[in-house]
Amino acid sequence: MKLTHILWIGAVAVLAAGCHRDMWLQAKEKGGRESAFFTDGNTSQPRVPGTVAVDEADQTSAYMTGYENGKLVTRIPVQITPELVARGKDRFEIFCTHCHGAIGDGEGMIAQRGMKLAQPPATYHSDRLRQMADGHFFDVITNGYGVMYPFSDRLPDERDRWAIVAYIRALQLSQMYPAERLTADQRQKANNPPAFVSPRNPEAHSDAGSHAESGDDHGGEASGGGH
Ligand code: HEC
Repeated sequence: MKLTHILWIGAVAVLAAGCHRDMWLQAKEKGGRESAFFTDGNTSQPRVPGTVAVDEADQTSAYMTGYENGKLVTRIPVQITPELVARGKDRFEIFCTHCHGAIGDGEGMIAQRGMKLAQPPATYHSDRLRQMADGHFFDVITNGYGVMYPFSDRLPDERDRWAIVAYIRALQLSQMYPAERLTADQRQKANNPPAFVSPRNPEAHSDAGSHAESGDDHGGEASGGGH
């Protein structure tokens, strides 16, 4: 290497090193030294109980993949609580309703307004998806399905994806609840739904409402109950 080259490299190194001294001078503590910051006086702190390093997590577990021993898990591997379902509703309404619709019937606004896809957004209320293992929904959200893109980057927390699965199950039940499991009171209500009043146009009544004898918006009618 010529002397001029070496001089050039040296000059560039000096210039580069001259920048950003602020980052080198930040406050920091080195491992194993004394610390005035932590109460036990040691800079090396034990792990917060329950935490797992990213590279130590079992990436193949049912919780992480939706599969166990090569088969889809049939049950959500997380305890199902009202909070979990509420979280699922929250995430579902942000990430899924515009295509799948608020009740998961595939009639989201984008679908209604003419999104052209090789396949329309699926309805969750088919027999195939009602009988499908829970793990399948997790897998679809994580890795995508057909023309639907994956959501693992938008929903990086596995717990959120399981929460959505729980909410999809709730949606499925909401549209197809076994009648024999209803109480007499619930059956009575299901058979006499209140008339639908459009929030945008309270004067316009749905079909069910327009037959209501009293004309009372909240009265409903005994029509034998919609679908
Ligand atoms: C941009 C529109 C779009 C969004 C957003 C979207 N999907 Fe989909 N989804 C689709 C389409 C289209 C299909 C049908 C794909 C196919 O059959 O090729 C589909 C299919 C599915 C299926 C059915 C898979 C099967 O076995 O048939 C499930 C379950 C599903 N989506 C869940 C979700 C969930 C949960 C979310 C939100 C996290 C979501 N989707 C967000 C468009 C979307």
